[in-house]
Amino acid sequence: MATQTPSEILDGIATARVAFDKNEPGSREALIDYGRALISSLEIPSEFIQRTFWAEPAHSAIIRIAFDVRLFQHLEEAGSEGLSASVLSEKTGIDVTLLQRLVRHLVAMNLVTFRDGAFRGTTLSNGLAAENYQHSVRFCYDTSRPAFNGFPEHFKKNRYTPPTLSGTDGPFQSAHNTNLPFFDWLVATPPNLDDFSSFMASYRAGKPDWFDFYPVQERMIEGFDPSVNGTLLVDVGGGRGHDVATFVSRYSAHPGKVILQDREPVIATVDASDAFEAQAHDFFTPQPIQGARAYSLHSILHDWGDDESVKIIQNLVPALKPGYSRVLFNEIVLSEEKPTLAATNMDMMMLAHLNVRERTEAEWTALLAKAGLKVIKIHTRPGVAESLIEAELA
Ligand SMILES: C[S@@+](CC[C@H](N)C(=O)[O-])C[C@H]1O[C@@H](n2cnc3c(N)ncnc32)[C@H](O)[C@@H]1O
Repeated sequence: MATQTPSEILDGIATARVAFDKNEPGSREALIDYGRALISSLEIPSEFIQRTFWAEPAHSAIIRIAFDVRLFQHLEEAGSEGLSASVLSEKTGIDVTLLQRLVRHLVAMNLVTFRDGAFRGTTLSNGLAAENYQHSVRFCYDTSRPAFNGFPEHFKKNRYTPPTLSGTDGPFQSAHNTNLPFFDWLVATPPNLDDFSSFMASYRAGKPDWFDFYPVQERMIEGFDPSVNGTLLVDVGGGRGHDVATFVSRYSAHPGKVILQDREPVIATVDASDAFEAQAHDFFTPQPIQGARAYSLHSILHDWGDDESVKIIQNLVPALKPGYSRVLFNEIVLSEEKPTLAATNMDMMMLAHLNVRERTEAEWTALLAKAGLKVIKIHTRPGVAESLIEAELA
């Protein structure tokens, strides 16, 4: 798209706007893509450099300061009245002249507004004031950004080779001067584990879930046989249960049981619910629930290399009832032709923090085949980064 002319992009925007006005899925994301493409097609190199290396780093640094001084919360509480620079200075403890300079940059970046002598929050900055996003800001700035900043030096030193499977020698370890794998480091350095959990819980917020575009009624509920085992869905590695909680509220009349599984320390923090059962299960051990209609693995295999991923699936395979049980992998399927920013963003996060990668359709098909599964169909929804790879016993 970046090679299109500005006129072609503007024509695309006009078409996407019609879809957006009809609230069509993916139209908002298409407009964002066009917006980015338009900037790339119009910017000259000096503008590009100033935006990329001045405006955006300063923007994220000010947003990180905003976390410390509750700037977005103060603006949200002030509502449409807004706050003058001197009142905002008192509330945040930032010297008024410094505050004006910092917040002016947020105005120039369209994150807050200034009118009639008052700064005001926008829908976006008010959204960012929520705790999950505030913790995500701290995680992305303090933990992720140093790893990205260190890419050039790290990869030069390592002769431009990817991190090894040990997960202890990547850009993350160089940036944070540690030998610990990422997940162990999170546990060892509070509040990083909490911040990461908030980040995980919020990074897909506001986006459709897999059951919004997978035909649940037709492929799971119809044909459900209570005599097989009585379980409709097992969410393997489902965290604290955000997917199953939404699933049962969306399909409140569903037949059968819905079961959440994760590691024992995670399950210990799950609020008891009548709507689903919670069970401690290590997915590197045999699956205890036999013959469920569907097993969902959401963002599980992308955390693991091919050998571990095959082991995870092989521990599931003996539990599957041939011709009945489905395995639903909710994962990014990386397009080689037209990679989306959401997909390459996640791939870069994986490169920065872990020794793993996002996979193409060919890589997914080969991986599942190695573990004894075949892909039935890959379900997608425009504007949603993750696909639903529906598989069954080969
Ligand atoms: C990237 S998170 C995905 C969580 C959830 N499925 C989602 O999409 O939000 C990976 C999950 O795998 C779980 N996990 C890691 N190792 C596990 C293991 N050996 N057995 C079971 N769950 C595990 C983690 O606790 C975490 O909840």
